[in-house]
Amino acid sequence: MTIILNEDQTLIQTMVRKFAREIVAKEAAERDQSGTFPKEIFQQMGELGLMGMLVPETYGGSGADAVSYAIALSEIAYACASTAVVMSVHNSICCESILNFGSQAQQQLWLPKMCTGTCIGAFGLTEPEAGSNPASQKTTAVRDGKYWVLNGTKQFITSGKNGGVVIVIARTDKAKAHGGISAFLVPQGTPGMTIGASENKMGLRASDTVQLIFEDCRVPEDAMLGKPGQGFKLAMTALDSGRIGVAAQSIGVAEACLDEAVAYAKTREQFGRPIGDFQGIRWYIAEMATEIEAARLMCHNAAVLKSSGQPYTMAASMAKMYASEMVNRVAGRALQIHGGYGYCKEYPVERHYRDARVFTIYEGTTEIQRLVISNGILGPIATKS
Ligand code: CAA
Repeated sequence: MTIILNEDQTLIQTMVRKFAREIVAKEAAERDQSGTFPKEIFQQMGELGLMGMLVPETYGGSGADAVSYAIALSEIAYACASTAVVMSVHNSICCESILNFGSQAQQQLWLPKMCTGTCIGAFGLTEPEAGSNPASQKTTAVRDGKYWVLNGTKQFITSGKNGGVVIVIARTDKAKAHGGISAFLVPQGTPGMTIGASENKMGLRASDTVQLIFEDCRVPEDAMLGKPGQGFKLAMTALDSGRIGVAAQSIGVAEACLDEAVAYAKTREQFGRPIGDFQGIRWYIAEMATEIEAARLMCHNAAVLKSSGQPYTMAASMAKMYASEMVNRVAGRALQIHGGYGYCKEYPVERHYRDARVFTIYEGTTEIQRLVISNGILGPIATKS
């Protein structure tokens, strides 16, 4: 790693690397095969301060900066991408939304237990018909005295089964577009919220991804997160931060692919010498390492902007777009270097290749990132009257 880290960031990296490689990596392949959610690992991560990294110490968090968080996420993703996605949605989407938009009472109620890793956060934005266009929310929340009544279906919800609380985005005013959308904190087990079947995914198989169905699900009025009509802004703010997280996850998986490819190239012999002696393989390795470094610089740059309170929407989208596309190229190259063995489950690159695929899709597809970046440069497309 060539990027210069400060003393705190270096300490965090050393600590998380040790934990990730000794504990998280240990049964990652088995968990991937059986689809087992690593509940106990999140409690250990809570003890290490990894489940409230951006949360101030007053609420039991680590109060770390955004670069430290990105480094930690990359280290966990190196060991197990399924564990990393849960960490990412929990920290940068859920804890941060409660910090940015929650009342003091909501922060006191949720953040301390979330920081321990015993209460994992989930984010209910996507719907069967509202993916890239979350403004077309069909889930509704209707006021009934001191309650809100939620009806609708949420799709592809990370930690929807194992999470302790879900931030649910719902339409509260049909007459308004973006301004008619609000957010709610819905505890797991609330009557009227049903957990659908787990998705049988290609990768990230140890994380749970489910549909959540809301049928006359009543939550008290103080469950609203932020003000009425602030839900879309909350979701976009959360996704800005989440996209730095996806870039960090991509870097971690890409580093794992590179290390596997290098080790294999040094030991696998063909034509009487290690395949790492051949220029074709050497050039692959050089390109992979360079692309990882570029992605890391972009990711850390977005994190520095965020930590210093500057606008970072475009930087986060650029980092997410580049890093998620990069890890797919790197994983493909790593598998190619392994030849036929890379196609078999005995070799970790097979898992990394499957895990990497979703990074260009979730938390905004590559196509959506292009839209965000081009809007940032050119301004939004003017609507013809
Ligand atoms: N921060 C704060 N506010 C923002 C914002 C941002 N980054 N982006 C937009 N807004 C605000 C705008 O300022 C505007 O506010 P006003 O109405 O007050 O003017 C409002 O939101 C609407 O903005 P747009 O007109 O730009 O909104 P749009 O409907 O055209 O959408 C979009 C823009 C970028 C395409 C957005 O819809 C988007 O990001 N889509 C992708 C959604 C996505 O990433 N989904 C992933 C699901 S979550 C997930 O995957 C998590 C998981 O479990 C792993």
